Amino acid sequence: MKIDVIDDFYKLLHPCMTVLVVSVSHDGRPNVMTCAWNMPVSDEPPMIAIALGSESYTSQLIRESGEFTVNIPDERLIKAVWICGTKSGRSVDKFKLAGLTPRPAKKVKAPIVDECVAHLECRLSSQLEAGECIIFVGEVLEAYCEEELFKNGVWNIEKVALPMHMGGRLFAIPMRIVKP
Ligand SMILES: Cc1cc2nc3c(=O)[nH]c(=O)nc-3n(C[C@H](O)[C@H](O)[C@H](O)COP(=O)(O)O)c2cc1C
Repeated sequence: MKIDVIDDFYKLLHPCMTVLVVSVSHDGRPNVMTCAWNMPVSDEPPMIAIALGSESYTSQLIRESGEFTVNIPDERLIKAVWICGTKSGRSVDKFKLAGLTPRPAKKVKAPIVDECVAHLECRLSSQLEAGECIIFVGEVLEAYCEEELFKNGVWNIEKVALPMHMGGRLFAIPMRIVKP
């Protein structure tokens, strides 16, 4: 038997890799938000997309600055992930509140989150309205990560615990590799 889950439809597509998106204001103040709706969309040139609520402070800052960074947290940052996903940078400095350190990026004004294990620096390429969200497509200018956690082009899931959002306060961590 199959049940109707239309109210939770998007969670059929979870768990999703959970990232911290950093943007920066005119006067150089960085903001960090949690984002589960992210995906690669082009290999050549390298591009990713993130779907952000159009009312979020991050959406405003990305529209204004045309840049953002995507930072991949491991399980140790799960509390920070929750804080950055439940408070708005309009009212609070989330870097301070979550105990995160902004570190200058290589190519964009938005900083990276130093405590994260991987980083993508992006320049806004296009945007598309989708319901209450805006899909921001960013060209990836730089991508780098902790050497021992990413081997032969794949995450070493025996060494890194990557929280993937299931819904609400629930996250899953990939533990097993299978091959076709
Ligand atoms: C685990 C998790 C995943 C989230 N994923 C998204 C997402 O993909 N897109 C989005 O717009 N908001 C997402 N949110 C909610 C935002 O992070 C939240 O609205 C945040 O307060 C926005 O911050 P800002 O106003 O400083 O930009 C998520 C929250 C959590 C806890």
